[in-house]
Amino acid sequence: MTLPGFPVSRPRRLRQSLALRRLVAETRLSVEQLVLPLFARAGKKLRRPIEAMPGVFQLSPDEIVREAARAHTLGVPAVLLFGIPDQKDAKASGAYAKNGIVQQTVRLLKKELPSLLVITDVCLCEYMSHGHCGVVAGGKILNDPSLKLLARTAASHAGAGADLVAPSDMMDGRVAAIRAELDKNGFTDTPIMSYAAKFASAFYGPFREAAESAPKFGDRRSYQMDAANANEAMREVALDIQEGADIVMVKPALAYLDLIHRVKREFGYPTAAYSVSAEHAMIKAAGAKGWIDERAVTLESLLAMRRAGADILITYAAADTARWLRSGMTSGV
Ligand code: PBG
Repeated sequence: MTLPGFPVSRPRRLRQSLALRRLVAETRLSVEQLVLPLFARAGKKLRRPIEAMPGVFQLSPDEIVREAARAHTLGVPAVLLFGIPDQKDAKASGAYAKNGIVQQTVRLLKKELPSLLVITDVCLCEYMSHGHCGVVAGGKILNDPSLKLLARTAASHAGAGADLVAPSDMMDGRVAAIRAELDKNGFTDTPIMSYAAKFASAFYGPFREAAESAPKFGDRRSYQMDAANANEAMREVALDIQEGADIVMVKPALAYLDLIHRVKREFGYPTAAYSVSAEHAMIKAAGAKGWIDERAVTLESLLAMRRAGADILITYAAADTARWLRSGMTSGV
């Protein structure tokens, strides 16, 4: 089709009013797409602020319920739960303990807010004394011995009532191991949202303060992906789908929009974008200084993830975004 040229074509005709712009908007943000990450730690009435993530706290289970209820009332359908255990060791016992912090919190959330979807992050780093996402021996992060622990963790989350499990460790074969263990334990209907293309990223800095999960030696480059690689990310996603992932994730989001786009186009699977801690911190910091409009930049960033192809948006700004959307604000400035 050949487009008519100017003066027949005047693209500005459709930009004259907010109503017209909304009418022809190709992409929309909706509260139903938002997932709010929350950090659970033992205690009562505990709200410990995370310095590099304004508005985000480590919360005791009772406070998690309050925070989740507030977001859910605004229409946020799901939370993504992380746990900070009292004790760490070399086999991540706290990750799969029957009464671990995540397991307790999931039970409480499902009891108090049955319509809220509870997604659990499945990883070992928060529970390991060395802070790595797998079993360590001789200074190396071992792949296959880690799978058993990850699978056990996922099954234990499902046992506590988690609606979905989300492995974020980046060990090879973890999705298959988790699927098999879930099925063996009767959780054939528990979906897996895999952090399929997860990059070794400086954008996770503030999160490691939040989850107290920074590695004590070395870094995560032997398991998380190299930021230079896009084709490899596609293979990672393909492998996770072959192994049984139901939803695939790209993480971080804003610096990896090309991959969100390629993943959605190539596989057509439900695709999640994780707008990570430093994406949040940068917007918050510049917003607090008055250098940018926090609300407009947040909405525009989330819209960009949708435009790239993301169906699900995991963001620390989920509750704020829900409030903004409810009051009729859109990302159209
Ligand atoms: C755990 C995990 C991390 C994040 C989510 N799950 C940190 C990491 O891999 O070091 C990052 C989330 C964020 O920065 O918001 N493996």
